Amino acid sequence: MSDEIEKLKRLSAPLLAWYDVNRRVLPWRDEVSAYRTWVSEIMLQQTRVTAVLPYFARFMAAFPTVEALAAADTEQLMKLWEGLGYYSRARNLQKAAQIVAEQYGGRFPDSYEEILALPGVGDYTAGAIASIAFGQVVPAVDGNVLRVAARITGSRLDVLDAKNKKLFRSWMAQAMSADRPGDYNQALMDLGATVCLPGGEPLCGGCPARDLCAARREGCQNELPVRTKKREKREEHLTVFLLQRQDAVALRQRSKAGLLAGLWEYPHVPGTLNEQEAADRLTEWGVTPLRWEKRLEARHEFTHIRWEMTCYVLRVRGDGPADWRWADGEERQKLAVPSAFARLTQEIHTTEKERE
Ligand code: ADE
Repeated sequence: MSDEIEKLKRLSAPLLAWYDVNRRVLPWRDEVSAYRTWVSEIMLQQTRVTAVLPYFARFMAAFPTVEALAAADTEQLMKLWEGLGYYSRARNLQKAAQIVAEQYGGRFPDSYEEILALPGVGDYTAGAIASIAFGQVVPAVDGNVLRVAARITGSRLDVLDAKNKKLFRSWMAQAMSADRPGDYNQALMDLGATVCLPGGEPLCGGCPARDLCAARREGCQNELPVRTKKREKREEHLTVFLLQRQDAVALRQRSKAGLLAGLWEYPHVPGTLNEQEAADRLTEWGVTPLRWEKRLEARHEFTHIRWEMTCYVLRVRGDGPADWRWADGEERQKLAVPSAFARLTQEIHTTEKERE
């Protein structure tokens, strides 16, 4: 057995004892079902626990069962997801719910392979569901767990390399607790989120693994895990129009495929337009500016893309293209507008206040 597995095996008992005292109280832990575990794990992909909590509560109230989610109105689903980001997660959640409702008679599949085959479920999420909801001995290795494992073992393998990630997974599979696999995986998540913090801030004094951690012994916690491949973000420039007509703003629906598919957005065009070019564009759209309120710059970061936005806020008349929707406050409440654009909405209100 490799040295790394030996080191990780020694972690199991103190880790579970620590978890019994220090576990975070979370709604999907109070009442465990495959459905609740699955929804929480999908929300927790790329999103912090504190941000997920209110979304999880609203989601469970709106869709208490997998059948309710399968039959949900997509617009309502997107509205419930608004602000959480990575909207394809919500769409896949519904697709998977329909599969569970139709092909499994509403009973969530309990084998790792069947869970893994559902849309939106990767090996981390399948491992989390299989272990937490069904007690199967499968690891759930995400960024937090890789950090803990790299520090405990002192491994300098690059965790961004898929080959190495697979190796870490196989170590965890052999080292994890066979008696309490769900608790073991969640204990690692909690340890990574509250004690074995990234960067220069691990709280080693409160760590149940402080006496068996290779990184701590060598004083190299800050150097681990090794992550050498840097992902470059693509930068895109766009000019966004916040157009007000009486109490309404112009929105249009994004196409059904690609980034933020099907959500509602302010009209925009690629590139950075100056005021004259922006005015020309408005003319092409068939709207007439009445008053230019302000120009501002905003930035929004996605995983692989950065949007550099120039925004014009103005009062107009005219209808614009047929696919625009002039939404008043009440209607805007019903339409899902992704954060990249929704953040700009306050600019409209600020302008209104300034004028009062
Ligand atoms: N992060 C991802 N899944 C989690 C879980 N089940 N509990 C706490 N944090 C998590």
